[in-house]
Amino acid sequence: MRKSRRKTVAARRLVLVAILTLAVPAAGCGRENDNQTPADEAPVEVSLPSPATRGEVSLEEAIQARRSVRSFTSRRLTREEVSQLLWAAGGRTIDGVTGPTRSYPSAGGIYSLSILLAAGEVEGISPGVYRYDWRENSLRLIRSGDPRSDLARAALGQGAVRRAPASIVIVGDVQRTAARYGERGRDRYISMDTGHSGQNVSLQAQALGLGSVIIGAFRDEAVKEVLGIERETPLYIIPVGEPAS
Ligand SMILES: Cc1cc2nc3c(=O)[nH]c(=O)nc-3n(C[C@H](O)[C@H](O)[C@H](O)COP(=O)(O)O)c2cc1C
Repeated sequence: MRKSRRKTVAARRLVLVAILTLAVPAAGCGRENDNQTPADEAPVEVSLPSPATRGEVSLEEAIQARRSVRSFTSRRLTREEVSQLLWAAGGRTIDGVTGPTRSYPSAGGIYSLSILLAAGEVEGISPGVYRYDWRENSLRLIRSGDPRSDLARAALGQGAVRRAPASIVIVGDVQRTAARYGERGRDRYISMDTGHSGQNVSLQAQALGLGSVIIGAFRDEAVKEVLGIERETPLYIIPVGEPAS
């Protein structure tokens, strides 16, 4: 009698453990380090069209015309535009002395920045947060679902983030630069790297006939939550879209 009760209790425990094992990952917040499967059917890997290295607008014209744009039309961004913007932010360029290099200079060639895409309305790319693979010129899904409203809230309610079809988000592994350069790396170099990458995005957007604004005012922890990242620090949010005249 006692033996069979013990068996029943053990069986119940087994069922409970099985339920918890299945339920906990599904209920998680979807951070990429959690090793979880994205919630819906958005493809995990997205390849992008090759970026162009020639354009119709000169660098001088782009510098001359750039200004912050905070209002956008309802036009979606194309995959070509997104690919071009991501490449400008931190894509692969020429092969330098130390191997393939990127679109912006980085202190000590450490490249502690990563480029994320917060996509709402992009042709051929499901809404979600993605990490840019600079070597492959492709995207990897971090989490599904349109992040714009939450991201705008985390950016102190700034409407440009909600209204733009997508934002390029620059995040950085501050410890990585600090490990080499200490305080100077943490307080200066990482921000300098970010400025170079951000300016590339601004000028590339301008050259494509798009508008953008550099956004530095946001709550770090809230932005991290929306992006589904843990270790890195968000540095810039750059909403991009067709300017509303
Ligand atoms: C570090 C930094 C942070 C900024 N943060 C914001 C921001 O949070 N929101 C915003 O609307 N503009 C932001 N801007 C954009 C500036 O307001 C804008 O560049 C400035 O007013 C000059 O205007 P212009 O870009 O049209 O030349 C930021 C710019 C920089 C460089």
